[in-house]
Amino acid sequence: MTRPRRLRATPALRALVSETRLHPRDLVLPLFIKEGATEPVEISSMPGVVHHTEASLAAAVREAAEAGIGGVMLFGVPVVRDATGTGADDPDGILNRGIRIAAAAAEGRLVVMADLCLDEFTDHGHCGVLDSHGGVDNDATLERYVSMAIAQASAGATVLGLSGMMDGQVAAVREGLDESTANDGAGFQDTAILAYSAKYASAFYGPFREAVESTLDGDRRTYQMDPANRREGGRETVLDLLEGADIVMVKPAMSYLDVLADVAAQSDVPVAAYQVSGEYAMIEAAAANGWINRRAAIEESVLGIKRAGADIILTYWATELAGWLR
Ligand code: PBG
Repeated sequence: MTRPRRLRATPALRALVSETRLHPRDLVLPLFIKEGATEPVEISSMPGVVHHTEASLAAAVREAAEAGIGGVMLFGVPVVRDATGTGADDPDGILNRGIRIAAAAAEGRLVVMADLCLDEFTDHGHCGVLDSHGGVDNDATLERYVSMAIAQASAGATVLGLSGMMDGQVAAVREGLDESTANDGAGFQDTAILAYSAKYASAFYGPFREAVESTLDGDRRTYQMDPANRREGGRETVLDLLEGADIVMVKPAMSYLDVLADVAAQSDVPVAAYQVSGEYAMIEAAAANGWINRRAAIEESVLGIKRAGADIILTYWATELAGWLR
C-alpha cells in the first residue's frame, strides 16, 4: 500500500518535502503617491493601504527594503487630469516625483518599478487618448506611452510596468527607450519592461479605482481582455515576448491561475502575477468579520499564485508577508 500520509506526519517532514516556498524577494509592493497630500490617508476599500505623501512614501520604501522584498510598483494620483494625460510625462508630475523619491530611499536595495499607463492622468479615465468618436486610439496612445517611458526612466525607474493593453506597446516603448536622447544620448537600453501581457477586464480592480480616484465612466473592454479567454492570454504573451518584454505578467491572479500556469509554461523570461485590489479587499473583509484566518488566508493565496507559476508576485501584503517569512 502506498501511504502519502507518511510524509505529512511531522512539521519537519512537511517542511522538507514542501514543493513551493515563498521568499521575500518574490514580492513586490504596489504603492500610491498622492499629489498634495499632507498626511497618509487610508483608502477605505483597502484597509491598511494608504495614499502616501512624499515623506510617507520614502518611509514605506525604506521599510520594504528592510523587509527584504524584491521591489515596489508606484502609482501616482494627480490633482489635475486632462484629455491626453500631460501629468504622466511631466518630469515634475506626481508619479515621476514619486519615482525619484522611491529611488533615493531604496538606495539600490530593491527594484523601483512604475506603472506606465494613462488612466490616472486622463480626465476621461481611459488608459489612452481618445479618437474623434470617443474610442481609445491605439497608435496615438503609443506615442504618449513612449514619452511617459522616457520620463519614468529619466526619473530613475528600473522597470516599467506597461499596463495599458494597447497593441504594440512593448515594441513601441522598447524602441523609444533605446533611441531616446534624454540620457545624454546614451538611450535607456537598460531600462526593463514588465509587460502586463494577459490583463483581464476585471471586477476585482474595483477598490483600485477608488485608490486612484478614477473618473472612468464605462469600462475597458475594448482593450483589456475578456475573462472568458484562456488561449488569448497565451497569444498576448507570445506577442509581448516577440516585442521584447523582459518580464511578463498575468493580472488579476487568483481567478486566472490557469492562464498563469499556461504563461509560465510558455515564457522564457520571468513571470509575474498581480494579486489585485479586489483580491486584497475580499480577504481583508472576510478576516475583519472573523470568517477566515487572516494570516493563513494571505499566505495560502500568495503561495497558490507562486505554485501556479509566478516567479514574482505583486501584492499589497508584500512587506507584512515578508516579515512573517523571515
Ligand atoms: C492601470 C492599472 C489598474 C490596476 C493596475 N494598473 C487598473 C485598471 O486597469 O483598471 C489595478 C490594480 C489593482 O486593482 O490592484 N493603470
